[in-house]
Formats: sequence, C-alpha cells, structure tokens
Amino acid sequence: MKRPFVHLAGTGRGIPATVFKNSEFASIGIDTTDEWIVERTGIKQRYVARTETATDLAAKAARCAMEKAGVQPGELDLIVLGTASPDRLLPSAAVDLQAALGAGRAAALDVGAACSGFIYGSVVAEGMMATAGYETALVVGVEKLSAITDWTDRSTCVLFGDGAGAAILKRSRQHQKGILSTYVRSDGTLGDLLCRPSGGAKRPFNADVLADRSQFIRMNGREVFKHAVRSMSDACGRALDAAKLTGADIDLMIPHQANVRIIEATAKHANIPMDKVYVNVDRYGNTSAASVPIALDEAIETGRIRDGSTVLLVAFGAGFTWGAMAVRF
Ligand SMILES: CC(C)(COP(=O)(O)OP(=O)(O)OC[C@H]1O[C@@H](n2cnc3c(N)ncnc32)[C@H](O)[C@@H]1OP(=O)(O)O)[C@@H](O)C(=O)NCCC(=O)NCCS
Repeated sequence: MKRPFVHLAGTGRGIPATVFKNSEFASIGIDTTDEWIVERTGIKQRYVARTETATDLAAKAARCAMEKAGVQPGELDLIVLGTASPDRLLPSAAVDLQAALGAGRAAALDVGAACSGFIYGSVVAEGMMATAGYETALVVGVEKLSAITDWTDRSTCVLFGDGAGAAILKRSRQHQKGILSTYVRSDGTLGDLLCRPSGGAKRPFNADVLADRSQFIRMNGREVFKHAVRSMSDACGRALDAAKLTGADIDLMIPHQANVRIIEATAKHANIPMDKVYVNVDRYGNTSAASVPIALDEAIETGRIRDGSTVLLVAFGAGFTWGAMAVRF
C-alpha cells in the first residue's frame, strides 16, 4: 500500500511533579548506591507520579501536542495509546484519555507493545490513516510504572520512571516530509524475560499473588540487555534501508531510553555518533512507551530537531517488541 504522507505536526509531554533521586532509595530500605545505578544504567533520577494518574499525564502531553499542532480535540479522528500501566484494565486507557480531552469524534484504542508502544502506535495510526481516510491522529505513550514496580526489588525499581509523551500525526500534501519508513517486529517466545506474571485472567489478583509479589514487573536484566542491543541495531538498519538512508543521513537518533549502555551500543551498530543521539535517561529513567515521545518533544523544544531534520526513532520492549521509524521534519 502507498504511504499516506503523514507528518508529525506537534509533540508534547506530561511529566509528574515529583523527582525521585538515586540517593533516595536508601530512605525506602533499598540496598543500592547512586554510583552503582549511574555506572550500570546512566540513570540519576526519575519522576514518580504521586498524585497524577496515567490519564492526567497523557492528557497533559496530548493537550500540549494539540496546541503546537493547532488541533482542537474535536478534530481528532483517532487516538492510539501505548501503555503497560493503564489506570484500569477495562476499558482502554485510550478511551479514558478521549473522555478527558473531549475528543468525541475519535476512534480510540490501546496498543500493547510495552516500551515500543509509541513506534507501534505510530505504525497503527499511519495504517489507519491510509485505510480509513483519517486526517488527524493523536499517538500517546504513557506510563505510571511506579504502580507496577516492585519497590523492594533493587534489580528493577531503580530503572523505571513515570511520564507521558504525545504526537499529532497529520496527513500532509508535502511529500518530502513526515514518516519515511517504519519497521516493527516481535518475538513472543521471549515473553517471560520481562513480564508481570500475575494479575491477568490466567492468574488474577488474589492473596497468593500479593504474597509472592508476582503482580509486579519481573525481568532478567542481562538477557534483556543483549536482545535490546541486537534488536534495536537491526531495526535501525531496516528502517534506514527502507527509507534509502544511511546512518550518515541522520541528524538525530532518538532511541528508547532504558539504559545509556544500550543506547551507546545501538548507536555504534547504526554508525551514528553519540553527538547525534538524544539522551535523557539520566533525568527520566526508563519510562517505557513514553520514553521516545518525551525525548522527541524535548529534542524539538531545544532545537536539536529543526525544519528539514531527518530523525531515526528506535525502541525495544517487553514481548519482546521492537521497531524503528525514520521521519523528516
Ligand atoms: C538491570 C541491569 C542494570 C543490571 O546490570 P548487570 O550488570 O546485568 O547486573 P546483574 O543483574 O548481573 O547483577 C550484578 C550484581 O549487582 C546486584 N544488583 C542488582 N541491582 C542492584 C542495585 N540496584 N544496586 C546494587 N546492586 C545491584 C545484583 O544483585 C548482582 O549482585 P551479585 O553479583 O552479588 O549477585 C542491566 O542488566 C540492564 O540494564 N539490563 C537491561 C534492563 C532494561 O533496560 N530493561 C528494560 C528494557 S525495555
């Protein structure tokens, strides 16, 4: 099918008010140090939503993106929302966001692609714009991972943060700009390496689940690390090839912000020097589906992305899912 020429017309972010620094883990009884966390991950702090809901964060990001794109809620044809930590399990987080925004005309759905949620969401939105003739879509990545993190497990609780990022996708007549290529993949045979074992329909919440804390995220960090580098590197190559670009054509790479060592290894494989890679994992930690759109919004705001910039977005997450997208602004 022919690409519908969809451009990113505005971005926004919704960040919780509360900062949680590495030094604060001692106060909740976690045996770790700032030095260990920074050396292994590059993370110095993360934001934690104490009072904000996931919907609040998503709505803030969405309103900011709509304002920059000059789009009213009633003009949205579609809302695609990526999350692994919705406020409630039914209905979708996307319809809760729709209600908060007053976007009454939109079709709204969630995509379950964990940290790759924004890239998967953009692919879904672009496809629906092509087939359903939609003009304007809102793609959001939002997480309140603090609610599904085991705050007694030092191997995971130091990694995650809360936040939301959003983008308005609009059909464009300008063929040189917008989404140039996309690539997404998944491998469900590796699902147990990063998952929430309980709380779903197979093993619903009960006293046993709460006792073994299996409603929280569990991860085999070493295995995830290896697969993340391999898959994100591959996705970069595929998205570049599909857009007939090389690493040298990329003005800025926006990788999923999980770990600075994963980012460095991925950039090296893609032949993109670190001065062309956006990094904010030090301030946010891993915000899963929100990480790419938060970074994208900051990169535009700070002038790292300008009119004409060619940008490569790439992500990896639980599933495993991974993907990349080349975009010209
Ligand atoms: C999680 C991660 C930082 C751990 O680093 P690592 O070098 O693999 O460390 P290991 O898990 O092998 O643990 C090494 C030691 O550090 C300890 N450790 C784990 N977390 C710690 C913490 N927060 N503070 C101090 N020590 C810690 C472990 O207990 C282990 O101790 P031991 O050797 O006495 O058993 C790393 O594997 C990683 O970043 N993985 C990818 C995670 C990720 O990004 N996931 C999301 C992808 S979307």
